[in-house]
Amino acid sequence: MKMTANADSGRFQSDAHKYAAYLETPEGRLRSDLSSANLQDFLPLQATLQAKDSLCALDVGCGTGATGVRLARLGMHVTLLDSSPAMLDIAKRTAQEAGVTEKVVLQHGDATRLTNLFQTGSFDVILCHNVLEYLDDPIAVLRGAARALRDSSAILSVLVRNRAGEVFKAAIQAGDLAVAENNLTAEWGEESLYGGRVRLFTSDSLQAMLKAASLAVIAERGVRVLADYLPSRISRSAEYARILELERKLSSRPEYAAVARYTQCFARLP
Ligand SMILES: C[S@@+](CC[C@H](N)C(=O)[O-])C[C@H]1O[C@@H](n2cnc3c(N)ncnc32)[C@H](O)[C@@H]1O
Repeated sequence: MKMTANADSGRFQSDAHKYAAYLETPEGRLRSDLSSANLQDFLPLQATLQAKDSLCALDVGCGTGATGVRLARLGMHVTLLDSSPAMLDIAKRTAQEAGVTEKVVLQHGDATRLTNLFQTGSFDVILCHNVLEYLDDPIAVLRGAARALRDSSAILSVLVRNRAGEVFKAAIQAGDLAVAENNLTAEWGEESLYGGRVRLFTSDSLQAMLKAASLAVIAERGVRVLADYLPSRISRSAEYARILELERKLSSRPEYAAVARYTQCFARLP
């Protein structure tokens, strides 16, 4: 496993372990498991056949590396890129524990500079999960990702916070009707884990950004539609498999996906 240099830090440096702990909660697991299951449906054909180890993937803003390492376990060569050294330390351990260090390159760098970091057409799969929410110029990242996709069979998976989900969360979880109403049109929300603001997306705004980056959207999914609002008598851990199964069914139905906590879009070069 190779480690290359530079970039900034911020909340993801000091709170990396808080984020890693969140990913172990039923909500965090659901987000990872659902977005990975959705991704499986759109991986390039080789990933489901024999030639998986010829594929290269990039995980932009990889965090703990949980999702990227799943691709390494499928046999892909994966570059885990993050601007937080603390996150990369955790990602390194994730790769070690999964026994895939030879498949993984850790790269310290800024997602807004993909064009300087990677050659055109380098990757068959690019993940950009829960990163655009924290950036001033998300389209710059999408343009860089578009340029780094290998060809029209390569796939970009983008996962972002869905504004409609913030309306439901404020009303149902917090019982705060004023915030719920405000969230109907809010462009930014409050990050409950680390504090600070987080960009909120709508399906239209994400699709417009992908289009501005010259990418064609091929599918959209919702991630976590109901799980956040289940009554407390339902054990999130004991009933995890059933909740996951139900969420998988809701994920691809547009009427439910529209109000999920996260929106996942799959896009290709046109
Ligand atoms: C909410 S976490 C998501 C991590 C991971 N993608 C996941 O889905 O679990 C956001 C990650 O993006 C990284 N990040 C934020 N801004 C970045 C930037 N400009 N360049 C690279 N990584 C960045 C943070 O350090 C953090 O690890």
